[in-house]
Amino acid sequence: MSLSIVILAAGMGTRMRSAMPKVLHEIGGRSLLGHVIHTASSLHPTAIHVVYGHGGEQVRATLAAAPVNWVEQAEQKGTGHAVMQALPAIADDHQVLVLYGDVPLITATTLQSLVDRSRSSLAILTAEFPDPQGYGRIVRNGQGSVRRIVEQKDASAEEQQIREINTGFLCAPARLLRNMLNQCTNDNAQGEYYLTDVVEHTVADGGQVDTVTTADLPEVAGVNDRVQLAALERELQRRHAERLMRNGVTLRDPSRFDLRGDLDSGRDVVIDINVVIEGKVSLGDGVEIGPNCVLRDVRIAAGTRIAANCVLEEAEVGENCRIGPFARLRPGAQLSRAVRVGNFVEIKKSTLAEGAKVNHLTYIGDAEIGREVNIGAGTITCNYDGVNKHRTVIGDGAFIGSNTELVAPVTVGAGATIGAGTTLTGNVEPGALAVTRAPQRTIPNWRKPKKR
Ligand code: UD1
Ligand code: CA
Repeated sequence: MSLSIVILAAGMGTRMRSAMPKVLHEIGGRSLLGHVIHTASSLHPTAIHVVYGHGGEQVRATLAAAPVNWVEQAEQKGTGHAVMQALPAIADDHQVLVLYGDVPLITATTLQSLVDRSRSSLAILTAEFPDPQGYGRIVRNGQGSVRRIVEQKDASAEEQQIREINTGFLCAPARLLRNMLNQCTNDNAQGEYYLTDVVEHTVADGGQVDTVTTADLPEVAGVNDRVQLAALERELQRRHAERLMRNGVTLRDPSRFDLRGDLDSGRDVVIDINVVIEGKVSLGDGVEIGPNCVLRDVRIAAGTRIAANCVLEEAEVGENCRIGPFARLRPGAQLSRAVRVGNFVEIKKSTLAEGAKVNHLTYIGDAEIGREVNIGAGTITCNYDGVNKHRTVIGDGAFIGSNTELVAPVTVGAGATIGAGTTLTGNVEPGALAVTRAPQRTIPNWRKPKKR
């Protein structure tokens, strides 16, 4: 049977106290709505319809690349009214699954069981809440069959004792949903068209209402304010951490690990505390990441160790390298095998061949560094003349003395040596020594000036 998914995302989100629509707030580096669309897509539906309203243009613009059909709900007249906005675009013989743009941790597994339960009838997802305050309650008869859902504001004192709540998620054939929603009125405490009323109408029509109950409460938790946002962020991170550990990653402290993207990791990867991983990151077997590192869109090959406090973005690091502590690899840094990059070293848009060493206080930009090159402390590639960027090329086995400035464009031949303190403005032949240095003057018995 074909599946159409409707995601309700028209809410104002007033309690976020934000200029940004609620569903665009992020957990794990992805918007709340982005999470829901991602999970919805994993069910391979025929179509995903997102009902948007307040701040809708910003939502559409931000998620422009998402494979969804946008449906506007100009005025918010309730959840039932919201679903009705999407129904004209859905064929009668489709299953319709209703999701929420502000309930981001719902799992595909639970949704699939809801879809499977539904088939020709209405199925709703419920949960047992220790504190059901604020939620719609599931009213069952003596035989345990669902009779209706009553909203908190419409519930009697007795009904308010019920702890089985309506999560809001439901699935039903489009034909049934259309017929039942047409019978809904806004004759209730909130003056809204309630989606939940379809339950009562289905029962009155002699139809059956099935339930799926989840024990995983965070998966049905919504975000209304930033406190709940933070709680779901932690929960998402806990889930990421658990999955990674089960896949063979050691996390020194799973509560101090943040994944804001996708991490692909080999075996025996060790990640120390306070590491933030963003975008697409892959870590080969045995890679170790020290504390307080930020990795964004990087690939790190097997056996490499990144020491504490390094920031790596859009970089590639080969096998068995030693990076940091306090190193920064910027976009386009490409390190081959067994490269060493030490403290206070910045590398941008440069390649370093096997065994190259850049150990202290250095800037390498727009450069090509050969095999086994040794770059001394305080070296700077002067790649920018104020207008254009130029390249520095250093041949295999060259030795660059400390405090050297390489004024690009410049080429140092293989095996050449540059004396410490050199400002290099011309090319150096292979094997040569280049040094620019004012001759040393030593004045014996120098009489220091005296204070007058
Ligand atoms: C709803 C359910 C309630 C359930 C609870 C779970 C109804 C009538 N009640 O209550 O039984 O326990 O969710 O969280 O459905 N929305 C629109 N357009 C509208 C109104 C709402 O898109 O006109 C969206 C909101 O953005 C939100 C979702 O629908 O994402 C739920 O709406 P909300 O008003 O929060 O419903 P509740 O009163 O919490
Ligand atoms: Ca709500």
